[in-house]
Amino acid sequence: MKKRIAIFASGSGSNAQKLMEHFKRSNEIEISLVLTNNAEAYVLQRADNFEIPTHIFDKNEFYKTEDVVGLLKNLEIDFIVLAGFLWLIPKSLIYAYPGRIVNIHPAILPKFGGKGMYGDHVHNAVMAAGETEGGITIHYVDENYDEGEYIYQARYRIDKNDNLEMVKFKGQQLEHQHYPRIVETLVKKIKK
Ligand code: GAR
Repeated sequence: MKKRIAIFASGSGSNAQKLMEHFKRSNEIEISLVLTNNAEAYVLQRADNFEIPTHIFDKNEFYKTEDVVGLLKNLEIDFIVLAGFLWLIPKSLIYAYPGRIVNIHPAILPKFGGKGMYGDHVHNAVMAAGETEGGITIHYVDENYDEGEYIYQARYRIDKNDNLEMVKFKGQQLEHQHYPRIVETLVKKIKK
């Protein structure tokens, strides 16, 4: 039986798209579910295009009930990938999937991480700090924002004339290049 991944995403889902493409033809691993807190998120459309089931939840369901954990267990999900998911993961979910939840962050952590640091906020902070390098971090997820053990980091150069769009583009290229292959390596190592 294939190992089953669930993706959590809150927005566009370009990383989710890359993951769905990457595993589409895999004999070992599949994306089995896409979950979001945002009914308007474009990631839902992307999941539909791949005929992957979706689930939308609200704050109450996520933080006050065990419904999401129940759904993941019912669907025999083995591994969870956060791809632009903006809410803190509740303890119950961390305990249900120990060492089996990963996130991608658009900076070289521990710099430019923490609550409120997502998407353009991160890129703007990196540029405001006058950094000459940007990057990405793939890390395990624990109970705090952006603090779990690092798995992989990659860097890109920020040139003097780069604007927000350029910096964002360079970061996104790295994310798309590395997230699917790193996830594949990790999932291959876990027991079903
Ligand atoms: C990605 O750049 C990801 O690193 C970032 O959100 C973006 C989602 O883009 N995540 C965070 O900032 C988490 N703190 P996408 O929806 O196109 O994949």
